[in-house]
Amino acid sequence: MMNVKEKYLELLKKSLLNEIYVENELRIFCLAEKKLLKKWSLIFGGIDFEKLHHIGKYFPEDLDTFKKNRFEGGLLTPGSRHLVYADTMIGRKRLLNIEHCLSVILEEKILGDVIECGVWKGGATIFMKAYLDTYESTDRVVWLADSFEGVPESTLAQDKYSDLSRKAYPGLAIPKDDVVKNFEKYDVSLDHVQFLEGWFKDTLPDAPIDKLALLRLDGDLYESTMDALQSLYHKLSPGGFIIIDDYKALPQCEEAVQEFRLQNTITEPIQKIDSEAVFWRKKF
Ligand SMILES: C[S@@+](CC[C@H](N)C(=O)[O-])C[C@H]1O[C@@H](n2cnc3c(N)ncnc32)[C@H](O)[C@@H]1O
Repeated sequence: MMNVKEKYLELLKKSLLNEIYVENELRIFCLAEKKLLKKWSLIFGGIDFEKLHHIGKYFPEDLDTFKKNRFEGGLLTPGSRHLVYADTMIGRKRLLNIEHCLSVILEEKILGDVIECGVWKGGATIFMKAYLDTYESTDRVVWLADSFEGVPESTLAQDKYSDLSRKAYPGLAIPKDDVVKNFEKYDVSLDHVQFLEGWFKDTLPDAPIDKLALLRLDGDLYESTMDALQSLYHKLSPGGFIIIDDYKALPQCEEAVQEFRLQNTITEPIQKIDSEAVFWRKKF
């Protein structure tokens, strides 16, 4: 049986992932894709409210895909420009991985703060902060590093096939105020939450961070991944965790990680979280 703390964190996961209302995301998707227009709607206009209200009955396979994606993380449909409408796009397996890492960090008293580089709406960091507060680990800072204006334009050869910039994906640009409001929306305290606003290459090298127990990278590009690794990996405490969200989703991310591991003789085994994300634990 779950105790009250576990129940709170489970309900928070469900809310951040929008699992409870996942049908609404299918409704938005179907409306945007004009799948709910009545027959003859071009002549008479109008939404088919029977389908809108009972969306799961009419689009059961799409609903299953939505649920599966929510479990695995990532975009709604491959190749689609629809982003998820939850407060995190990382999926349940990756939230469970954060929970696992934090539980070991607290249990084994691994020193340092926690950071996510690439926060989008802030969902993963809201969960980190809520977890730390729930288990009364209130002295660690939760750092949120982001441009808050989306992914930079690709300038490096390694990123040339990935235009994830604001022009192509405006939905990846979430202002800092919206992230603050999201913390408030979930009643998660902003005490000991610090924002590093700007491009990683400008904010991370001199960030006033002493030690990290958890380093989570979710910046999509080779450049973003490499900038974060070069500025922060040496601050990760022995026994601390590094999580790479995009490792198998975006080849340029894997390339940056492999190059950095080779250059720094990092041999800790890479462990799979789901079909895209990986992590490893820095040796003692
Ligand atoms: C895929 S989203 C992150 C998803 C998020 N972790 C979640 O829980 O849903 C990528 C984020 O990285 C940020 N980003 C990517 N590269 C960046 C860079 N070089 N500097 C600053 N922010 C960057 C974007 O603004 C965007 O918010």
